[in-house]
Amino acid sequence: MHDKKASPVPPAPPLFTWEFASDPYPAYAWLREHAPVHRTALPSGVEAWLVTRYADARQALADQRLSKNPVHHSEAAHGKGKVGIPGERSANLMTHLLNIDPPDHTRLRRLVSKAFTPRRVAEFAPRVQELTDRLIDGFADRGEADLIHEFAFPLPIYAICDLLGVPPEDQDDFRDWAGMMIRHGGGPRGGVARSVKKMRGYLTELIHRKREDLGEDLISGLIRASDHGEHLTEDEAAAMAFILLFAGFETTVNLIGNGTYALLRNQGQRERLQRALAEGDEGLLATGVEELLRYDGPVELATWRFATQDLTIGGQRIAEGDPVLVVLAAADRDPERFAEPDTLDLSRRDNQHLGYGHGIHYCLGAPLARLEGQTALATLLRRLPDLRLGADPEELRWRGGLIMRGLRTLPVAFTPEDIADT
Ligand code: HEM
Repeated sequence: MHDKKASPVPPAPPLFTWEFASDPYPAYAWLREHAPVHRTALPSGVEAWLVTRYADARQALADQRLSKNPVHHSEAAHGKGKVGIPGERSANLMTHLLNIDPPDHTRLRRLVSKAFTPRRVAEFAPRVQELTDRLIDGFADRGEADLIHEFAFPLPIYAICDLLGVPPEDQDDFRDWAGMMIRHGGGPRGGVARSVKKMRGYLTELIHRKREDLGEDLISGLIRASDHGEHLTEDEAAAMAFILLFAGFETTVNLIGNGTYALLRNQGQRERLQRALAEGDEGLLATGVEELLRYDGPVELATWRFATQDLTIGGQRIAEGDPVLVVLAAADRDPERFAEPDTLDLSRRDNQHLGYGHGIHYCLGAPLARLEGQTALATLLRRLPDLRLGADPEELRWRGGLIMRGLRTLPVAFTPEDIADT
C-alpha cells in the first residue's frame, strides 16, 4: 500500500464502472497525468494497455508494428481473447478492413474507395435530408420524444441500407438486427450471434442477386470496382458491406445522440449555432460537428491493436502479443494539444481531433458521418427550436460497451410543431 503522506498522487479511479460510463473524463484526466500508458484488466478479463495522451495516441494509431489482426493477440492463442464484433466468428466476415494489415488492407481499401467515394456521399445528401425530415415528422407534433429510439437510431440504419441498395421492404429487418446488436453489443449473447448470422446470410444473398443485375447502389459499386484488374471476391464484398453497416451504424447513432445532448447542456453554444443557421451560415455547423466529435465522440476507444514485436509507447515497454487500446476520448481532451479541452467551442479551429482515428485505418465513412451528423443536428434545431432535455441528466444511462460511447435514451421536450406553426 502507498503511504499517503509520501505519495501526493490520488488513487487510480475505478474504470469501467457505471459511474465511469456516465462520465469517464475525470478518470481519463487522471490516467493522462499519472499513467498515460496503463495496463488494466478489461471487463472481459483480457488485459490491455490504454494509451491516453494525444501525442502517444496519434503515434500508436499510425504505428505499423501494431497489427489489427487478432492472430497477433497473445491470449487469442489460449482461447481467452474476446475481441472483435460479438457473434462474428465466421472466417469470411472477419476479413474486413478493421481486422487486417497491409498489403491486404491496402488492396481492399483501394477497391472500396473506388465505390464509396465522397461524390457518391455528396449525391446522397437530399436523401439524408428526406429521411431526417420523415423521422422528425413521426414525433414533431407530440411535444416529446426519445431521440435515440425515434431519431438517432433509425436514421443511420436506413441511410446505410439505402446507400448499399437494400430494398425498402427489407430495411426494417436490418433495423431489428441492428437493434439487437446495439442493445447487446459488447457481450457475446445468442441474440447477437443470430442477428449477425441473419445479416450475413441476407448480404451474401443480396450480393449474389446484384451480381446478376447491377444497379447504381454501393453494393453494385463494390462488385464493379476494380484496381489493376483485381476485383473483390463475393466473400470480400459481403464482409465489406457488413463492416460498412457495422462501423457506420452505432457510431452515427452516438454522434447524433451525444452531439444533441452536448448542445442541450451548453445553451450558449446551442443558441450560437441556432443563430448562425437562421442567418444561413453553415460554417459553424461544420466546425461544430467536428467539435462535438472531439468533445464527446462516439468512439471512446479505437478498435483493437496488437504488438507484433516488443516496442515502447510513451516510454512504456509493451511486449509482443499485448493488446493496445488507444483511448480517443482521452486523447481528444488532452490539454497538451487542445486549449481548454473540457470546454465545448463550436467554432474551434485548431481541432485535429482523433474521433475518426488516424493513419491507414482512418474512418472510411467520415464524409457520410459528417453529412448525417450535420443534417440531423441542423434539422432538429431548425424544426424544434425550443428543444430541451426531458429528463434530469443524472437519470440518463450510458451504454457500458468498451469501444463505443453513447446514451441508451435521450428524452426531449419541445413545443409541438403544429402548435408552433399556428
Ligand atoms: C474506421 C469513427 C462513421 C466506416 C473508423 C475508425 C474510427 C471511426 C475511430 C478507426 C478505428 C481504428 O483505427 O481502430 C467513426 C465515427 C463515425 C463513423 C466517429 C460517426 C460519427 C462511419 C460510417 C461508416 C464508417 C458512417 C460507413 C458507412 C468505417 C470503416 C472503417 C472505419 C469501413 C475502417 C477503415 C479501415 O480500417 O481502413 N471509424 N466512424 N464509419 N469507419 Fe468509421
